[in-house]
Amino acid sequence: MSWWKSAVVYQVYPRSFADSDGDGIGDLAGIASRLDHVAELGADVLWLCPVYPSPQDDAGYDISDYRAIDSTFGTLADFDRLLAEVHARGMKLVTDLVVNHTSDEHAWFAESRSSRDSPRRDWYWWRPPRAGMEAGAPGAEPTNWRSAFSGPAWELDPATGEYYLHIFSRKQPDLNWETPELREAIYEMMRWWLERGVDGFRMDVVNFISKDPALPDGRGDGGAFVSGSEHYICGPRVHEFLAEMHREVFAGRDGLLTVGEMPGVTVEDARLFTDPARAELDMVFQFEHVQLDQGATKWDLRPLALRDLKASLGRWQAGLAERGWNSLYWGNHDQPRAVSRFGDDGEHRVRAAKMLATVLQMHRGTPYVYQGEELGMTNAPFARLEDFRDIESLNHYAESVAAGADPEHVLASLRRMGRDNARTPMQWDASERAGFTTGTPWLAVNPNHVEINAEAARADPDSVFHHYRRLIELRHSEPVVAHGDFTMLLPDDERVYAFTRRLGDVELLVLGNFSGAAAEAAVPSGERWRAAEVLVGEAPDGPLSLRPWEGRVLKARSAR
Ligand code: NOJ
Repeated sequence: MSWWKSAVVYQVYPRSFADSDGDGIGDLAGIASRLDHVAELGADVLWLCPVYPSPQDDAGYDISDYRAIDSTFGTLADFDRLLAEVHARGMKLVTDLVVNHTSDEHAWFAESRSSRDSPRRDWYWWRPPRAGMEAGAPGAEPTNWRSAFSGPAWELDPATGEYYLHIFSRKQPDLNWETPELREAIYEMMRWWLERGVDGFRMDVVNFISKDPALPDGRGDGGAFVSGSEHYICGPRVHEFLAEMHREVFAGRDGLLTVGEMPGVTVEDARLFTDPARAELDMVFQFEHVQLDQGATKWDLRPLALRDLKASLGRWQAGLAERGWNSLYWGNHDQPRAVSRFGDDGEHRVRAAKMLATVLQMHRGTPYVYQGEELGMTNAPFARLEDFRDIESLNHYAESVAAGADPEHVLASLRRMGRDNARTPMQWDASERAGFTTGTPWLAVNPNHVEINAEAARADPDSVFHHYRRLIELRHSEPVVAHGDFTMLLPDDERVYAFTRRLGDVELLVLGNFSGAAAEAAVPSGERWRAAEVLVGEAPDGPLSLRPWEGRVLKARSAR
Protein backbone atom coordinates (compact mmCIF):
# COMPACT_ATOMS: atom_id res chain seq x y z
CA MET A 1 0.00 0.00 0.00
CA SER A 2 1.77 3.15 -1.19
CA TRP A 3 -0.16 5.67 0.92
CA TRP A 4 2.94 7.88 0.99
CA LYS A 5 2.54 8.73 -2.71
CA SER A 6 -0.08 11.30 -1.77
CA ALA A 7 1.56 12.26 1.52
CA VAL A 8 3.64 15.28 2.50
CA VAL A 9 6.33 15.01 5.17
CA TYR A 10 7.20 17.82 7.56
CA GLN A 11 10.71 17.72 8.99
CA VAL A 12 11.28 18.85 12.56
CA TYR A 13 14.76 19.73 13.81
CA PRO A 14 14.18 19.33 17.54
CA ARG A 15 16.93 21.64 18.82
CA SER A 16 15.37 24.53 16.97
CA PHE A 17 11.63 23.94 16.90
CA ALA A 18 10.20 24.88 20.29
CA ASP A 19 11.69 25.01 23.78
CA SER A 20 9.29 24.22 26.63
CA ASP A 21 11.66 24.58 29.59
CA GLY A 22 13.64 27.72 28.90
CA ASP A 23 17.09 26.14 28.50
CA GLY A 24 17.38 27.63 25.03
CA ILE A 25 17.22 24.25 23.26
CA GLY A 26 14.07 22.85 21.71
CA ASP A 27 12.55 19.69 23.19
CA LEU A 28 9.84 17.07 22.77
CA ALA A 29 7.28 18.84 24.95
CA GLY A 30 7.89 21.95 22.85
CA ILE A 31 7.19 20.02 19.66
CA ALA A 32 4.00 18.58 21.16
CA SER A 33 2.84 22.09 22.04
CA ARG A 34 3.23 23.25 18.43
CA LEU A 35 1.77 20.24 16.62
CA ASP A 36 -1.34 22.12 15.56
CA HIS A 37 0.84 24.24 13.29
CA VAL A 38 1.90 21.11 11.39
CA ALA A 39 -1.61 19.67 11.39
CA GLU A 40 -3.05 22.94 10.07
CA LEU A 41 -0.55 22.86 7.25
CA GLY A 42 -1.96 19.47 6.32
CA ALA A 43 1.23 17.43 6.55
CA ASP A 44 0.71 13.68 6.85
CA VAL A 45 3.99 12.67 8.40
CA LEU A 46 6.37 14.27 10.83
CA TRP A 47 10.05 13.35 10.55
CA LEU A 48 11.89 13.92 13.77
CA CYS A 49 15.66 14.43 13.62
CA PRO A 50 17.64 12.55 16.32
CA VAL A 51 16.61 12.97 19.95
CA TYR A 52 18.60 10.05 21.39
CA PRO A 53 21.25 10.46 24.09
CA SER A 54 24.26 12.01 22.44
CA PRO A 55 27.36 14.04 23.27
CA GLN A 56 26.01 16.36 20.54
CA ASP A 57 29.28 16.50 18.65
CA ASP A 58 27.24 16.50 15.44
CA ALA A 59 23.95 17.79 16.85
CA GLY A 60 22.59 14.36 17.75
CA TYR A 61 23.83 12.41 14.71
CA ASP A 62 26.35 10.91 17.13
CA ILE A 63 24.16 8.55 19.17
CA SER A 64 25.36 7.03 22.43
CA ASP A 65 22.21 5.03 23.21
CA TYR A 66 19.65 3.92 20.61
CA ARG A 67 16.88 3.18 23.08
CA ALA A 68 16.50 6.33 25.13
CA ILE A 69 15.96 10.07 24.82
CA ASP A 70 18.58 12.72 25.55
CA SER A 71 17.61 14.57 28.73
CA THR A 72 17.96 17.86 26.81
CA PHE A 73 14.96 16.79 24.76
CA GLY A 74 12.95 15.02 27.49
CA THR A 75 12.23 11.42 28.40
CA LEU A 76 10.82 8.32 26.77
CA ALA A 77 7.50 9.23 28.39
CA ASP A 78 7.65 12.61 26.59
CA PHE A 79 8.39 10.75 23.38
CA ASP A 80 5.37 8.47 23.88
CA ARG A 81 3.19 11.50 24.58
CA LEU A 82 4.41 13.23 21.43
CA LEU A 83 3.77 10.09 19.40
CA ALA A 84 0.24 9.84 20.81
CA GLU A 85 -0.40 13.51 20.01
CA VAL A 86 0.86 13.05 16.45
CA HIS A 87 -1.37 10.02 15.99
CA ALA A 88 -4.35 11.81 17.56
CA ARG A 89 -4.09 14.37 14.75
CA GLY A 90 -4.14 11.66 12.12
CA MET A 91 -0.44 12.06 11.32
CA LYS A 92 2.43 9.61 11.43
CA LEU A 93 5.84 9.91 13.05
CA VAL A 94 9.06 8.85 11.37
CA THR A 95 12.28 8.91 13.40
CA ASP A 96 15.86 9.31 12.33
CA LEU A 97 17.83 6.10 12.16
CA VAL A 98 21.59 6.71 12.29
CA VAL A 99 23.22 3.32 11.84
CA ASN A 100 26.20 3.98 9.62
CA HIS A 101 27.97 5.12 12.78
CA THR A 102 27.43 5.63 16.49
CA SER A 103 28.97 8.03 18.96
CA ASP A 104 32.37 7.05 20.32
CA GLU A 105 30.56 7.20 23.67
CA HIS A 106 28.18 4.38 22.73
CA ALA A 107 28.65 1.26 24.92
CA TRP A 108 29.30 -0.80 21.78
CA PHE A 109 32.28 1.36 20.88
CA ALA A 110 33.60 1.44 24.44
CA GLU A 111 33.61 -2.35 24.36
CA SER A 112 35.02 -2.50 20.86
CA ARG A 113 37.96 -0.26 21.67
CA SER A 114 38.69 -1.99 25.00
CA SER A 115 40.99 -4.60 23.43
CA ARG A 116 41.91 -6.20 20.12
CA ASP A 117 40.17 -9.37 21.32
CA SER A 118 36.95 -7.72 22.40
CA PRO A 119 33.94 -9.71 21.15
CA ARG A 120 32.68 -6.41 19.73
CA ARG A 121 36.01 -5.51 18.05
CA ASP A 122 34.53 -6.23 14.62
CA TRP A 123 31.44 -4.11 15.19
CA TYR A 124 33.59 -1.17 14.01
CA TRP A 125 36.40 -0.82 11.45
CA TRP A 126 39.79 -1.22 13.11
CA ARG A 127 43.00 -1.32 11.12
CA PRO A 128 46.74 -1.26 11.90
CA PRO A 129 48.86 1.61 10.60
CA ARG A 130 49.87 1.58 6.96
CA ALA A 131 52.42 -1.19 6.29
CA GLY A 132 55.91 -0.26 7.37
CA MET A 133 54.80 2.84 9.28
CA GLU A 134 54.58 3.68 12.97
CA ALA A 135 51.19 4.30 14.49
CA GLY A 136 50.69 8.02 14.77
CA ALA A 137 53.33 8.97 12.18
CA PRO A 138 52.10 11.44 9.53
CA GLY A 139 50.54 9.44 6.70
CA ALA A 140 50.33 6.21 8.73
CA GLU A 141 46.54 6.20 8.49
CA PRO A 142 45.36 2.88 7.02
CA THR A 143 43.89 4.61 3.94
CA ASN A 144 44.01 8.08 2.41
CA TRP A 145 40.28 8.71 2.97
CA ARG A 146 39.10 12.11 4.09
CA SER A 147 36.45 12.73 6.70
CA ALA A 148 33.36 14.60 5.52
CA PHE A 149 34.11 16.96 8.39
CA SER A 150 37.74 17.71 7.35
CA GLY A 151 40.97 15.88 8.10
CA PRO A 152 41.62 12.14 7.79
CA ALA A 153 38.81 9.59 8.22
CA TRP A 154 40.92 7.60 10.70
CA GLU A 155 41.69 8.17 14.35
CA LEU A 156 44.42 6.39 16.24
CA ASP A 157 43.37 4.73 19.49
CA PRO A 158 46.64 4.62 21.48
CA ALA A 159 45.33 1.92 23.85
CA THR A 160 45.48 -0.77 21.16
CA GLY A 161 47.69 0.98 18.62
CA GLU A 162 45.07 0.67 15.87
CA TYR A 163 43.02 3.19 13.96
CA TYR A 164 39.23 3.31 13.66
CA LEU A 165 37.33 4.61 10.67
CA HIS A 166 35.08 7.66 10.97
CA ILE A 167 33.66 9.06 7.77
CA PHE A 168 32.16 11.91 9.80
CA SER A 169 33.67 13.35 13.01
CA ARG A 170 36.17 11.44 15.10
CA LYS A 171 33.36 11.07 17.61
CA GLN A 172 31.31 9.16 15.00
CA PRO A 173 33.03 5.79 14.42
CA ASP A 174 31.61 3.80 11.49
CA LEU A 175 29.83 0.55 12.28
CA ASN A 176 31.00 -2.56 10.48
CA TRP A 177 27.96 -4.06 8.77
CA GLU A 178 29.97 -7.09 7.68
CA THR A 179 29.42 -8.39 11.23
CA PRO A 180 26.12 -10.34 11.39
CA GLU A 181 25.63 -9.81 15.16
CA LEU A 182 25.85 -6.04 14.67
CA ARG A 183 23.20 -6.15 11.98
CA GLU A 184 20.92 -8.24 14.17
CA ALA A 185 21.38 -5.78 17.09
CA ILE A 186 20.31 -2.94 14.81
CA TYR A 187 17.27 -4.78 13.49
CA GLU A 188 16.23 -5.62 17.03
CA MET A 189 16.50 -1.96 18.00
CA MET A 190 14.43 -0.95 14.97
CA ARG A 191 11.70 -3.46 15.85
CA TRP A 192 11.70 -2.03 19.37
CA TRP A 193 10.87 1.45 18.02
CA LEU A 194 8.22 0.11 15.68
CA GLU A 195 6.60 -1.73 18.54
CA ARG A 196 6.61 1.51 20.46
CA GLY A 197 4.47 2.88 17.64
CA VAL A 198 6.75 4.81 15.30
CA ASP A 199 5.73 4.70 11.67
CA GLY A 200 9.05 4.34 9.93
CA PHE A 201 12.54 5.70 9.59
CA ARG A 202 14.57 8.28 7.75
CA MET A 203 17.88 6.49 7.45
CA ASP A 204 20.99 8.61 7.73
CA VAL A 205 23.62 8.05 4.99
CA VAL A 206 22.33 4.51 4.69
CA ASN A 207 24.07 3.95 1.35
CA PHE A 208 27.40 4.15 3.22
CA ILE A 209 26.78 1.01 5.32
CA SER A 210 28.51 -1.39 2.93
CA LYS A 211 32.21 -0.67 2.43
CA ASP A 212 34.63 -2.52 0.24
CA PRO A 213 36.11 -4.69 3.04
CA ALA A 214 39.58 -4.39 1.51
CA LEU A 215 39.37 -0.64 2.26
CA PRO A 216 41.53 0.39 -0.70
CA ASP A 217 43.04 3.85 -1.01
CA GLY A 218 40.84 6.42 -2.71
CA ARG A 219 41.50 7.68 -6.21
CA GLY A 220 42.28 11.26 -7.05
CA ASP A 221 44.83 13.89 -6.31
CA GLY A 222 43.14 15.98 -3.65
CA GLY A 223 46.35 16.14 -1.61
CA ALA A 224 47.30 13.76 1.17
CA PHE A 225 43.69 12.82 1.75
CA VAL A 226 41.04 12.23 -0.90
CA SER A 227 37.38 11.39 -0.56
CA GLY A 228 37.64 7.60 -0.95
CA SER A 229 33.87 7.54 -1.25
CA GLU A 230 33.99 5.26 -4.30
CA HIS A 231 34.75 2.53 -1.74
CA TYR A 232 31.76 3.14 0.49
CA ILE A 233 29.00 4.87 -1.51
CA CYS A 234 26.56 2.12 -2.51
CA GLY A 235 29.15 -0.50 -1.66
CA PRO A 236 29.08 -4.16 -2.72
CA ARG A 237 26.53 -5.43 -0.17
CA VAL A 238 24.28 -2.39 0.28
CA HIS A 239 21.28 -3.90 -1.52
CA GLU A 240 21.73 -7.16 0.28
CA PHE A 241 21.80 -5.41 3.68
CA LEU A 242 18.73 -3.31 2.95
CA ALA A 243 16.79 -6.31 1.66
CA GLU A 244 17.76 -8.17 4.81
CA MET A 245 16.65 -5.23 6.94
CA HIS A 246 13.35 -5.24 5.12
CA ARG A 247 12.82 -8.94 5.78
CA GLU A 248 13.91 -8.69 9.40
CA VAL A 249 12.16 -5.47 10.33
CA PHE A 250 9.50 -4.27 7.90
CA ALA A 251 7.96 -7.32 6.28
CA GLY A 252 4.39 -7.89 7.36
CA ARG A 253 3.95 -4.41 8.85
CA ASP A 254 1.66 -1.99 7.03
CA GLY A 255 1.53 1.76 6.90
CA LEU A 256 5.23 2.46 7.33
CA LEU A 257 7.46 4.89 5.48
CA THR A 258 11.15 4.23 4.89
CA VAL A 259 13.42 6.77 3.25
CA GLY A 260 17.14 6.34 2.79
CA GLU A 261 19.40 9.38 2.78
CA MET A 262 21.90 8.59 0.03
CA PRO A 263 24.61 11.05 -0.93
CA GLY A 264 26.09 10.15 -4.30
CA VAL A 265 23.32 7.73 -5.30
CA THR A 266 22.66 7.42 -9.02
CA VAL A 267 19.22 7.23 -10.65
CA GLU A 268 19.93 3.63 -11.64
CA ASP A 269 20.75 2.65 -8.09
CA ALA A 270 17.81 4.61 -6.70
CA ARG A 271 15.51 2.62 -8.99
CA LEU A 272 16.83 -0.58 -7.48
CA PHE A 273 16.56 0.71 -3.91
CA THR A 274 12.94 1.81 -4.38
CA ASP A 275 11.55 -0.83 -6.74
CA PRO A 276 8.69 -2.30 -4.65
CA ALA A 277 9.33 -5.72 -6.15
CA ARG A 278 12.79 -5.78 -4.53
CA ALA A 279 11.48 -4.81 -1.06
CA GLU A 280 14.30 -2.54 0.12
CA LEU A 281 13.13 1.06 0.74
CA ASP A 282 10.13 3.21 -0.18
CA MET A 283 12.17 6.19 -1.40
CA VAL A 284 15.57 7.81 -1.23
CA PHE A 285 16.96 11.31 -0.78
CA GLN A 286 19.35 12.07 -3.59
CA PHE A 287 21.67 15.09 -3.73
CA GLU A 288 22.28 15.88 -7.36
CA HIS A 289 20.08 18.99 -7.49
CA VAL A 290 21.62 20.48 -4.35
CA GLN A 291 25.13 20.17 -5.74
CA LEU A 292 24.61 22.07 -8.97
CA ASP A 293 25.65 25.38 -7.45
CA GLN A 294 28.99 24.05 -6.20
CA GLY A 295 32.34 23.07 -7.59
CA ALA A 296 34.63 20.42 -6.14
CA THR A 297 33.29 20.90 -2.61
CA LYS A 298 30.19 22.44 -1.12
CA TRP A 299 32.22 25.51 -0.11
CA ASP A 300 33.22 26.21 -3.66
CA LEU A 301 30.23 28.26 -4.76
CA ARG A 302 29.11 28.91 -8.30
CA PRO A 303 25.92 30.23 -9.82
CA LEU A 304 23.15 27.77 -10.51
CA ALA A 305 22.13 27.40 -14.16
CA LEU A 306 18.39 26.73 -14.35
CA ARG A 307 19.02 24.44 -17.32
CA ASP A 308 21.12 22.18 -15.10
CA LEU A 309 18.44 22.07 -12.44
CA LYS A 310 15.81 21.06 -15.00
CA ALA A 311 18.08 18.50 -16.59
CA SER A 312 18.83 16.94 -13.22
CA LEU A 313 15.36 16.86 -11.69
CA GLY A 314 13.91 15.88 -15.08
CA ARG A 315 16.25 12.91 -15.30
CA TRP A 316 15.20 11.75 -11.84
CA GLN A 317 11.54 12.13 -12.77
CA ALA A 318 12.03 10.05 -15.90
CA GLY A 319 14.30 7.52 -14.22
CA LEU A 320 11.80 6.68 -11.51
CA ALA A 321 8.66 6.97 -13.64
CA GLU A 322 7.96 3.28 -14.13
CA ARG A 323 9.58 1.76 -11.07
CA GLY A 324 10.63 3.38 -7.82
CA TRP A 325 9.71 6.69 -6.26
CA ASN A 326 11.27 10.12 -5.69
CA SER A 327 11.60 12.20 -2.55
CA LEU A 328 11.29 15.92 -3.28
CA TYR A 329 13.06 18.60 -1.29
CA TRP A 330 14.77 21.98 -1.57
CA GLY A 331 16.12 22.11 1.93
CA ASN A 332 16.70 20.32 5.20
CA HIS A 333 18.86 20.75 8.31
CA ASP A 334 22.03 20.30 6.20
CA GLN A 335 21.21 22.76 3.42
CA PRO A 336 20.94 26.54 3.33
CA ARG A 337 17.44 28.00 3.32
CA ALA A 338 15.71 27.32 0.01
CA VAL A 339 14.42 30.83 -0.66
CA SER A 340 17.88 32.34 -0.09
CA ARG A 341 19.59 29.74 -2.24
CA PHE A 342 17.24 29.15 -5.15
CA GLY A 343 15.00 32.22 -4.97
CA ASP A 344 15.12 35.80 -3.74
CA ASP A 345 15.13 36.51 -0.03
CA GLY A 346 14.87 40.27 -0.56
CA GLU A 347 12.19 42.20 -2.42
CA HIS A 348 10.46 39.13 -3.87
CA ARG A 349 10.84 36.78 -0.92
CA VAL A 350 7.18 35.84 -0.56
CA ARG A 351 6.62 35.29 -4.25
CA ALA A 352 9.86 33.33 -4.63
CA ALA A 353 9.10 31.09 -1.65
CA LYS A 354 5.65 30.35 -3.08
CA MET A 355 7.04 29.68 -6.55
CA LEU A 356 9.63 27.25 -5.19
CA ALA A 357 6.91 25.47 -3.25
CA THR A 358 4.65 25.25 -6.29
CA VAL A 359 7.35 23.89 -8.56
CA LEU A 360 8.64 21.31 -6.10
CA GLN A 361 5.33 20.10 -4.73
CA MET A 362 3.90 19.54 -8.20
CA HIS A 363 6.69 17.15 -9.17
CA ARG A 364 5.98 13.44 -8.96
CA GLY A 365 7.27 12.13 -5.64
CA THR A 366 6.82 12.70 -1.92
CA PRO A 367 7.55 16.30 -0.88
CA TYR A 368 9.42 17.13 2.31
CA VAL A 369 8.86 20.51 3.95
CA TYR A 370 11.68 21.57 6.27
CA GLN A 371 10.53 23.53 9.32
CA GLY A 372 10.26 27.22 8.58
CA GLU A 373 10.26 26.69 4.82
CA GLU A 374 6.47 27.11 5.00
CA LEU A 375 7.12 30.62 6.37
CA GLY A 376 9.71 31.48 3.76
CA MET A 377 12.44 31.63 6.44
CA THR A 378 15.78 32.84 5.11
CA ASN A 379 19.49 32.35 5.71
CA ALA A 380 20.82 34.07 8.80
CA PRO A 381 23.02 37.17 8.96
CA PHE A 382 26.02 35.48 10.62
CA ALA A 383 28.59 38.19 11.27
CA ARG A 384 31.52 36.38 12.86
CA LEU A 385 32.89 32.88 13.19
CA GLU A 386 31.65 32.87 16.81
CA ASP A 387 28.07 33.03 15.50
CA PHE A 388 28.36 29.52 14.01
CA ARG A 389 27.86 26.30 15.97
CA ASP A 390 28.04 23.51 13.39
CA ILE A 391 31.05 21.17 13.50
CA GLU A 392 31.20 20.95 9.71
CA SER A 393 31.54 24.73 9.35
CA LEU A 394 33.93 25.17 12.26
CA ASN A 395 36.24 22.35 11.14
CA HIS A 396 36.23 23.60 7.57
CA TYR A 397 37.15 27.10 8.71
CA ALA A 398 39.97 25.85 10.94
CA GLU A 399 41.40 23.59 8.26
CA SER A 400 41.20 26.10 5.41
CA VAL A 401 42.56 29.03 7.36
CA ALA A 402 45.42 26.89 8.70
CA ALA A 403 46.18 25.99 5.08
CA GLY A 404 46.42 29.67 4.19
CA ALA A 405 42.95 30.58 2.89
CA ASP A 406 41.66 34.12 3.36
CA PRO A 407 39.47 34.00 6.50
CA GLU A 408 36.97 36.47 5.02
CA HIS A 409 36.57 34.33 1.94
CA VAL A 410 35.98 31.22 4.05
CA LEU A 411 33.47 33.09 6.20
CA ALA A 412 31.63 34.21 3.08
CA SER A 413 31.15 30.60 2.00
CA LEU A 414 30.01 29.57 5.49
CA ARG A 415 27.39 32.33 5.32
CA ARG A 416 26.09 31.00 2.04
CA MET A 417 26.37 27.23 2.56
CA GLY A 418 26.71 26.64 6.31
CA ARG A 419 24.20 24.28 7.88
CA ASP A 420 23.48 26.69 10.72
CA ASN A 421 21.41 28.72 8.25
CA ALA A 422 18.75 26.03 8.47
CA ARG A 423 19.15 25.55 12.20
CA THR A 424 18.27 28.99 13.55
CA PRO A 425 15.22 28.80 15.82
CA MET A 426 11.76 28.46 14.34
CA GLN A 427 10.11 31.86 14.09
CA TRP A 428 6.78 31.56 15.87
CA ASP A 429 6.05 35.23 16.56
CA ALA A 430 7.52 38.73 16.61
CA SER A 431 8.51 38.69 20.27
CA GLU A 432 12.13 39.03 21.34
CA ARG A 433 13.07 35.34 21.06
CA ALA A 434 10.54 34.60 18.34
CA GLY A 435 8.37 32.56 20.71
CA PHE A 436 10.98 29.79 20.51
CA THR A 437 12.30 30.02 24.08
CA THR A 438 12.15 32.11 27.21
CA GLY A 439 15.90 31.52 27.69
CA THR A 440 18.95 32.22 25.59
CA PRO A 441 18.64 30.36 22.28
CA TRP A 442 21.52 27.97 21.52
CA LEU A 443 21.84 29.62 18.09
CA ALA A 444 20.73 33.20 17.57
CA VAL A 445 17.21 33.88 16.32
CA ASN A 446 17.16 35.49 12.89
CA PRO A 447 16.33 39.18 13.47
CA ASN A 448 13.87 39.06 10.57
CA HIS A 449 11.47 37.08 12.79
CA VAL A 450 9.84 40.43 13.52
CA GLU A 451 8.38 40.24 10.04
CA ILE A 452 8.68 36.54 9.13
CA ASN A 453 6.87 34.42 11.69
CA ALA A 454 4.11 31.84 12.00
CA GLU A 455 1.66 34.10 13.79
CA ALA A 456 1.83 36.74 11.07
CA ALA A 457 1.69 34.07 8.35
CA ARG A 458 -1.42 32.43 9.72
CA ALA A 459 -3.19 35.78 9.88
CA ASP A 460 -2.38 36.65 6.27
CA PRO A 461 -4.38 34.72 3.65
CA ASP A 462 -1.70 35.52 1.04
CA SER A 463 1.17 34.18 3.10
CA VAL A 464 3.68 31.52 2.14
CA PHE A 465 2.11 29.35 4.87
CA HIS A 466 -1.36 29.38 3.35
CA HIS A 467 0.14 28.74 -0.06
CA TYR A 468 1.81 25.56 1.25
CA ARG A 469 -1.48 24.60 2.87
CA ARG A 470 -3.28 24.87 -0.47
CA LEU A 471 -0.59 22.91 -2.32
CA ILE A 472 -0.74 20.10 0.22
CA GLU A 473 -4.53 20.07 0.01
CA LEU A 474 -4.21 19.78 -3.76
CA ARG A 475 -1.97 16.72 -3.46
CA HIS A 476 -4.65 15.14 -1.31
CA SER A 477 -7.58 16.05 -3.54
CA GLU A 478 -6.27 15.98 -7.16
CA PRO A 479 -5.03 12.49 -8.08
CA VAL A 480 -2.96 13.89 -10.94
CA VAL A 481 -0.59 15.52 -8.44
CA ALA A 482 0.37 12.27 -6.78
CA HIS A 483 -0.09 9.85 -9.64
CA GLY A 484 0.09 11.71 -12.93
CA ASP A 485 2.96 11.29 -15.34
CA PHE A 486 5.56 14.04 -15.78
CA THR A 487 6.88 15.82 -18.87
CA MET A 488 9.56 18.51 -18.66
CA LEU A 489 9.12 21.46 -21.06
CA LEU A 490 11.47 24.25 -22.14
CA PRO A 491 14.69 22.47 -21.08
CA ASP A 492 16.88 25.31 -22.36
CA ASP A 493 14.93 28.26 -21.06
CA GLU A 494 17.13 30.10 -18.59
CA ARG A 495 14.32 31.66 -16.62
CA VAL A 496 11.16 29.58 -16.81
CA TYR A 497 10.79 26.16 -15.25
CA ALA A 498 7.85 24.42 -16.92
CA PHE A 499 6.38 20.93 -16.92
CA THR A 500 3.11 19.10 -17.32
CA ARG A 501 1.50 16.38 -15.28
CA ARG A 502 -1.20 14.19 -16.78
CA LEU A 503 -3.59 11.56 -15.49
CA GLY A 504 -6.50 10.40 -17.66
CA ASP A 505 -8.02 13.50 -19.21
CA VAL A 506 -6.68 15.91 -16.58
CA GLU A 507 -3.54 17.83 -17.37
CA LEU A 508 -1.65 20.38 -15.29
CA LEU A 509 0.86 22.91 -16.53
CA VAL A 510 3.26 24.04 -13.81
CA LEU A 511 5.27 27.22 -14.32
CA GLY A 512 7.93 28.92 -12.26
CA ASN A 513 9.86 32.06 -13.06
CA PHE A 514 13.34 31.65 -11.59
CA SER A 515 14.33 35.23 -12.31
CA GLY A 516 13.81 38.75 -11.10
CA ALA A 517 12.41 39.90 -14.48
CA ALA A 518 9.00 39.29 -16.01
CA ALA A 519 8.97 36.26 -18.32
CA GLU A 520 6.71 34.67 -20.88
CA ALA A 521 6.37 30.87 -20.82
CA ALA A 522 6.74 29.87 -24.47
CA VAL A 523 5.21 26.43 -23.92
CA PRO A 524 3.83 24.22 -26.71
CA SER A 525 0.02 24.40 -27.19
CA GLY A 526 0.05 27.91 -25.80
CA GLU A 527 -3.47 28.63 -27.06
CA ARG A 528 -4.89 25.72 -25.14
CA TRP A 529 -3.20 26.81 -21.93
CA ARG A 530 -4.35 30.40 -22.37
CA ALA A 531 -7.89 29.09 -21.99
CA ALA A 532 -7.12 26.87 -19.01
CA GLU A 533 -8.24 27.25 -15.42
CA VAL A 534 -5.78 28.86 -12.99
CA LEU A 535 -5.54 26.23 -10.26
CA VAL A 536 -2.74 27.71 -8.14
CA GLY A 537 -1.57 31.32 -8.06
CA GLU A 538 -2.83 34.32 -9.97
CA ALA A 539 -2.49 35.40 -13.58
CA PRO A 540 -2.97 39.15 -13.71
CA ASP A 541 -0.97 39.52 -16.93
CA GLY A 542 -2.32 36.38 -18.64
CA PRO A 543 -1.94 32.65 -18.00
CA LEU A 544 1.52 32.34 -19.56
CA SER A 545 2.97 35.65 -18.36
CA LEU A 546 4.92 35.48 -15.17
CA ARG A 547 5.91 38.31 -12.89
CA PRO A 548 9.38 38.13 -11.24
CA TRP A 549 9.70 34.89 -9.26
CA GLU A 550 6.07 34.01 -9.87
CA GLY A 551 4.79 30.44 -9.97
CA ARG A 552 1.48 29.05 -11.20
CA VAL A 553 -0.45 25.89 -11.99
CA LEU A 554 -2.96 25.72 -14.85
CA LYS A 555 -5.44 22.90 -15.30
CA ALA A 556 -6.98 21.66 -18.54
CA ARG A 557 -9.06 18.70 -19.61
CA SER A 558 -8.22 17.07 -22.87
CA ALA A 559 -10.89 15.83 -25.21
CA ARG A 560 -10.00 12.17 -25.69
C1 NOJ B 1 23.52 13.30 7.35
C2 NOJ B 1 22.81 14.14 8.36
O1 NOJ B 1 21.67 14.70 7.78
C3 NOJ B 1 23.80 15.16 8.85
O2 NOJ B 1 23.20 16.17 9.63
C4 NOJ B 1 24.89 14.44 9.60
O3 NOJ B 1 25.90 15.35 9.95
C5 NOJ B 1 25.51 13.33 8.76
N1 NOJ B 1 24.56 12.57 8.01
C6 NOJ B 1 26.26 12.37 9.65
O4 NOJ B 1 25.36 11.66 10.47
